[in-house]
Amino acid sequence: MPALFDLNEITSLMPMPISSVRMAEMVSDPGSTIQQFTRVIELDQALTVDILRWANSAFSGPETRIDTVRDAVVRLGTANILKLAVGQHLVASFSPSLSQTDYGENELWRHSVASALAVEGLSEISPVRIPGLGFTAALIHDVGKLILCRRLGYDNLQEMIREIVDEKNVSGVEAERTFLQTDHAEIGGAIVRHWKFSEEMAGAIENHHRHDMEGGVLLDAVVAGDVLAHSLDVPHPEEWDKIMPILRRLKISGVDSANLLEIIRRKMSMSELLWNATPA
Ligand SMILES: [Fe+2]
Ligand SMILES: [Fe+2]
Repeated sequence: MPALFDLNEITSLMPMPISSVRMAEMVSDPGSTIQQFTRVIELDQALTVDILRWANSAFSGPETRIDTVRDAVVRLGTANILKLAVGQHLVASFSPSLSQTDYGENELWRHSVASALAVEGLSEISPVRIPGLGFTAALIHDVGKLILCRRLGYDNLQEMIREIVDEKNVSGVEAERTFLQTDHAEIGGAIVRHWKFSEEMAGAIENHHRHDMEGGVLLDAVVAGDVLAHSLDVPHPEEWDKIMPILRRLKISGVDSANLLEIIRRKMSMSELLWNATPA
């Protein structure tokens, strides 16, 4: 572990509920059953209440009332339940700063949601199967940045990075390494391991700025989702070029960049409905 990074700062984040970790394992295990997934939820009383509320919310639009966890799982789908559960946990982790209208953390949260929705968009148009964990991995890919913002302050961090980027003509991640001897991706990987998510998930978070690495479909999806989310407001043609090999591996060829970004923007406006359905 790099010298300037204190493991205690990881543990100061709320621990990820064990039910979310189990659900993540099951979403990536084709041998798991709806019964097993249902059982994990039933053993977590708070999650059971949330799942039933989500299943009966406007987001899922049920025609008849849903009263059992099993019916809720069938209605919402296992990957959707995982993303709602992890999303709710992150909202709770971010909320102390959000309540103080911290612009930086708000932006970070918006970027995280945009990245997750980008992965969802990619999985809809790619003939390659993107693992169900993709949305959740993209949602938490910059959690290491949250730790750095908490420690150094968003504005301070941005200023330090900008100074080094301008002075040395390096990337933001390289600038972090210059003064921290670590970077937010490495910190994020450590957090995800601390939360006991799978090594595949930790690897995707840890390597999400290594655009030239071929580390499997989950990593490809997170890297592409991150770049697409960054491109929503400001075009990043250089980064876009770097993800072309990923888009080719995902067999996405007929969709140009403008179309892909439009798909994500539509999802962003719809996402308000999704997060409003998330129980407070
Ligand atoms: Fe990042
Ligand atoms: Fe990012």
